Amino acid sequence: MIQINENYLKLKASYLFSDIARRVAAYTAAHPNQPVIRLGIGDVTEPLPPVCIEALHAATDEMAQRSTFRGYGPEQGYAFLREAIAQHDYAARGCPIEADEIFVSDGAKCDCGNIQEIFAPTARLAIPDPVYPVYVDTNVMAGRTGANVDGRYPGITYLESTPANGYVPAIPAVGVDLIYLCFPNNPTGAVATRAQLAAWVEYARKHEAVLLFDSAYEAFIRDPAIPHSIYEIEGAREVAIEFRSFSKTAGFTGTRCAYTVVPKSLLARDAAGNRHALHGLWNRRHTTKFNGVAYPIQRAAAAIYSPAGREQTTALIDFYLANAKLIRDAMTRLGFACIGGDNAPYVWVNTGRDSWDFFDLLLNQAQVVCTPGAGFGRCGEGHVRISAFNSRENVEQALARIAAAL
Ligand code: MLT
Repeated sequence: MIQINENYLKLKASYLFSDIARRVAAYTAAHPNQPVIRLGIGDVTEPLPPVCIEALHAATDEMAQRSTFRGYGPEQGYAFLREAIAQHDYAARGCPIEADEIFVSDGAKCDCGNIQEIFAPTARLAIPDPVYPVYVDTNVMAGRTGANVDGRYPGITYLESTPANGYVPAIPAVGVDLIYLCFPNNPTGAVATRAQLAAWVEYARKHEAVLLFDSAYEAFIRDPAIPHSIYEIEGAREVAIEFRSFSKTAGFTGTRCAYTVVPKSLLARDAAGNRHALHGLWNRRHTTKFNGVAYPIQRAAAAIYSPAGREQTTALIDFYLANAKLIRDAMTRLGFACIGGDNAPYVWVNTGRDSWDFFDLLLNQAQVVCTPGAGFGRCGEGHVRISAFNSRENVEQALARIAAAL
């Protein structure tokens, strides 16, 4: 009988959000008359911006005519979208990124998970704790770690984010090759200053390491001093890959569109010491394993860069940020230390109690779903994440229920 990839046996039985969904489903089955409000997984609730809907309709009409019908598109994305991204997300911020360094895909989750394939199995990893679970799990699957010991995997240098360091991890004392960073952070909502990002770029340049910079939540940054892209830092083109998404920026969690930037000047070595451009490797991987995002979806994504699209997406994000402020203020009033929610859609609440117990308390007493911090790593223990992605009415009701329950 064929053998399995035993690295999968090292993983926790299920993905965090599947685990939560199962607990919530069990609760609702047992209490069908107690409606639950979901502030757990960061899934958007508001409809797509009107510019996206118009673009989807127009593109669908094109698909209905022989003369404008399109089959396979370029795997890396249509030029109209790559150029719009290069111009509005990068050139406008002074970042030297070309359209052909942008790879359009169906999700930052997939790209963050897949990117490790182009690096050696022996690459030394540094991953924040707490963190979006995809970075750790995909490296476990690829065999870069030992078996789980007390919630941690040997082979990973954990970058601890704690109340003591303001939830922005310090640069490791040891040398590592591949560093995952996420700012604004999921789950904590913390942001990194220009100086903090510059220190990471300097470290990566010194150690010939690569930064994998997940900025899926950059559109939530409201503090003008906080960089939106790692490429706002000088020298980052030689050391960083960046992941972005339309999911949270424009409500595309179900529609699916994202992109990854791999600058052509980013090099890494083979075993013999020869240098190779990672752009070529990622292009090879992407064109082999992916066939492009649907044309109407790419048209809808490009529509957010029009003046009306800008206005509509800003309003959408402002709406969620106002929810986040309500959450942070309410939890602070209840006596909890909180961060996030000002430049991010997540509020990170220091509960001082076991995070799954607190999750169960909110579910059972307030019928509110949050995300237990322990699900994001050992340093997440004692915290929960509350997401701002819901209607105003639901957020207000959830907060009133929490206040009554605690
Ligand atoms: C989250 O809740 O952390 C996100 O929704 C996960 C994701 O974007 O895949």
